Amino acid sequence: MTTRVIMDTREELRELIQHAKEHLLYFRDLGLTNIGEATPPAMAEALPVRVEQVAAASAPEPEPVVVQPPPIIHQPEITMKKTPVPPIALFETESATANETLEDIRRDLGDCQRCKLWSTRTNIVFGEGNPNAELMFVGEAPGADEDASGRPFVGRAGQLLTKMIEAIELKREDVYIANSVKSRPPGNRNPEPDESRACIPFLFRQIAVIRPRLIVTLGNPATQGLLETKTGITLLRGKFQDYPRIPGIKVLPTFHPAYLLRSPDKKREAWEDLKKARAFLRGEIEA
Ligand code: URA
Repeated sequence: MTTRVIMDTREELRELIQHAKEHLLYFRDLGLTNIGEATPPAMAEALPVRVEQVAAASAPEPEPVVVQPPPIIHQPEITMKKTPVPPIALFETESATANETLEDIRRDLGDCQRCKLWSTRTNIVFGEGNPNAELMFVGEAPGADEDASGRPFVGRAGQLLTKMIEAIELKREDVYIANSVKSRPPGNRNPEPDESRACIPFLFRQIAVIRPRLIVTLGNPATQGLLETKTGITLLRGKFQDYPRIPGIKVLPTFHPAYLLRSPDKKREAWEDLKKARAFLRGEIEA
């Protein structure tokens, strides 16, 4: 009996340590090495240590990190208060119908052959998440993992995006995640202009259905496609913009997580952008 209780307690402790370790590691992935930067003051006081120390101390024997793909999202709960966005103003080329749903758009997309990417892709990556999301993330185009699974941002960059979402105290299933191009360009090259032109109307329609309050665009192609601008991400990041097609929807460009994996020194700026997004959604700042 006593042995059993001790074993249960040890198991719980092990789980707790593992959980704390994962939590700390994602702040480290975001470039935050001091817990006080990311946690409320009370918690920061209670834990006045550096992330590396805790992660190392709590890991007596290195275990292989098993990366679970994010959960499949069916019909998530709406966890954020929805503020109405004014009526939509779509371009006629988007062939949107009033009151269409995401399912209608997916059906319309079908087994799309509107550009050459259909011949090399495995799956169309339509997008996923909360259809009533206040916050939407838009990336560029699926990579190999997304092409294989049919789901956006599930590879390494996707795991970092999930951590970024969690760092602003949301869950992946609270937000909607999509790409401006829905079929993988071979070898992960940038989408070509004709491919973007063929595909982006479907993103515009998704936005018109979801009507988020804020869209965080990830990297240059998504930012330039959505804002219909040639200005680059370096100038635009961290600055709220108006989504040109629907009054009232704001766009906040930031760096693409794949870029952050290559340039970790940029994570601090991305974290500043994310904090802005969080403050806006909480009504603490105006865009
Ligand atoms: N990069 C993107 O832009 N989108 C994805 O879905 C995955 C990686």
